[in-house]
Amino acid sequence: HPQNFQEEDRSLLRRDDCRAKGGTPGFKVAILGAAGGIGQPLALLMKMNPLVSALHLYDVVNSPGVTADISHMDTAAVVHGFLGQSQLESALTGMDLVIIPAGVPRKPGMTRDDLFKINAGIVKTLCEGIAKFCPNAIVNLISNPVNSTVPIAAEVFKKAGTYDPKRLLGVTMLDVVRANTFVAEVLGIDPRDVDVPVVGGHAGVTILPLLSQVKPPSSFSREEIDYLTNRIQDGGTEVVQAKAGTGSATLSMAYAAVKFADACLRGLRGDAGVVECAFVASQVTELPFFATKVRLGRTGAEEIYQLGPLNEYERSGLEKAKKELAESIQKGISFIRK
Ligand code: NAD
Ligand code: LMR
Repeated sequence: HPQNFQEEDRSLLRRDDCRAKGGTPGFKVAILGAAGGIGQPLALLMKMNPLVSALHLYDVVNSPGVTADISHMDTAAVVHGFLGQSQLESALTGMDLVIIPAGVPRKPGMTRDDLFKINAGIVKTLCEGIAKFCPNAIVNLISNPVNSTVPIAAEVFKKAGTYDPKRLLGVTMLDVVRANTFVAEVLGIDPRDVDVPVVGGHAGVTILPLLSQVKPPSSFSREEIDYLTNRIQDGGTEVVQAKAGTGSATLSMAYAAVKFADACLRGLRGDAGVVECAFVASQVTELPFFATKVRLGRTGAEEIYQLGPLNEYERSGLEKAKKELAESIQKGISFIRK
């Protein structure tokens, strides 16, 4: 009913006003693809994040229902929903952080690169919107294939004249989350006490866990190294197969996305020492993009860390990773430049 909708809208505006007057600190966050398998639990968890004052939920379907549902949670963030391309401008205007889990997921037998055909266009359109309506926002890109969608986003922003490499981050946090879990299982310790750097990219052999740099310092047998490396590289496929055609990781991804978004927001707030792995523009290797640890600050990825000492196993893995990454990056760049 239009009148009720307007009434509800006005009350939301009053709440926004009131919050602004109270000076409650908080960031404005948009989720693009908010009604999807990742989008919904991600919206739920972001609504619970005390650093968020406004949460914009955008999708091309079903966002009104997800918004109504999430908006009843008694946490501080004020939620607004946006449906379809005509509402992209309102969804994005004023945002500090934009998280993008929009796009199709894998089915068994597919590679992430098989998603390129559909997801490249989706990411292009959404990034054109970001360039127009919130060019200074930090972007967390989740849509696969991340190894190509991040270069696509960079090209779109370059074309629009808004590109700042510090603000564009491909989300590889799920690889770190999985690595921490699997390594903790092998070591028999709490995963919260484990930190595994995972570098390279986000697909198969490009996912390179640096087990020689695990914290707490640990040594593994060759058998354990093979088992852990393969399991971390194939973690996504393990879930795709278990879900048997109904999708890929959504719940662990939402958890990982929120862990990463929260780190970005703490960086924006000015917290010191916020360091996470992400796929970013980089000079660590000869490739234009690479995932490593980065320090997150007020302007995004402010410092890109070097790889540190690698053992023979990791050096050989790095060569394989770079070969595949180079092609995926080029494919993304060519999609926009063609
Ligand atoms: P899903 O199909 O459940 O949800 C995707 C959502 O995107 C849907 O609600 C759909 O309506 C929406 N969408 C499609 N086109 C859109 C557009 N133009 N604008 C806005 N929204 C649009 O898929 P999912 O399981 O949530 O996965 C989403 C993406 O995330 C996939 O590409 C998947 O491969 C990727 N993914 C990445 C990681 C990672 O580690 N980076 C992990 C898991 C999944
Ligand atoms: C993952 O790692 O779970 C995601 O990239 C989804 C997939 O297709 O594996």
